[in-house]
Amino acid sequence: MAKTTWDRILQSQGFGSRKWCRELIADGEVSSNGEPVRDYRAGADTDGLEFTVFGETWRYREHVYLALNKPPGFECSRKPSHHPGVLTLLPEQFGWRDVQPVGRLDHDTTGLLLLSDDGAFIHAQSSPRRHVPKLYLATTHAPADDALVARLLEGVQLHDEPAPLAATHCRAVESHRIEIVLEQGKYHQVKRMLAAAGNHCVALQRTAIGALRLDALGLEEGEWRYLEQDDLALLARETAEAPPGSFSATADVSQ
Ligand code: URA
Repeated sequence: MAKTTWDRILQSQGFGSRKWCRELIADGEVSSNGEPVRDYRAGADTDGLEFTVFGETWRYREHVYLALNKPPGFECSRKPSHHPGVLTLLPEQFGWRDVQPVGRLDHDTTGLLLLSDDGAFIHAQSSPRRHVPKLYLATTHAPADDALVARLLEGVQLHDEPAPLAATHCRAVESHRIEIVLEQGKYHQVKRMLAAAGNHCVALQRTAIGALRLDALGLEEGEWRYLEQDDLALLARETAEAPPGSFSATADVSQ
């Protein structure tokens, strides 16, 4: 495999402009295999490459796929207006390499949020045609009774939608709590569906996307981790609650 110069490698991994990366190298801040990188032109094979910048070790990744356990009070938009953005919870390098949330959670919604800098992956995961099932735990103001569950499963009409929207799966798990699976990803969908069904959502957590479950990721609120091949394979599988569907992983994560 052809070697890539060190300034390009560091830039691709989010360490700043090529000029800045050359300065990091000249200042002796970059090493690989225990040796300082002295000449950015020498380059390296990126396959399996590990390197250290300011004493912290990184693995070269062509793209990054991340899971964040989103805390409340953070916005998913690229230009947050009222609350800090979710990118502030991640290392600065990810912002530089244009990592973005896959879809959005409201600022007060917590739980599983995927992020990536792979446009094809973001598109595939958020495409309405793929019907990726997302599992939410919603705390309700009024009791979560059988009638509420039945209404959400039958479908409720939202103002700007041409047809009623129905949950793929829904059940009450506590007196004021439901588990609900949606495949559409419309704006404020859980909250609006609960309102249309005559209740009110007081707290919302996303607990799974496809078969990737937040509780299996071992993340405290505010923590993130890389998604590896096994995790990404789970995104291609339906949740136990969802009916058979036709979505498949499209991300090429061979690195
Ligand atoms: N539905 C909502 O109402 N809010 C979210 O953040 C996600 C789904």
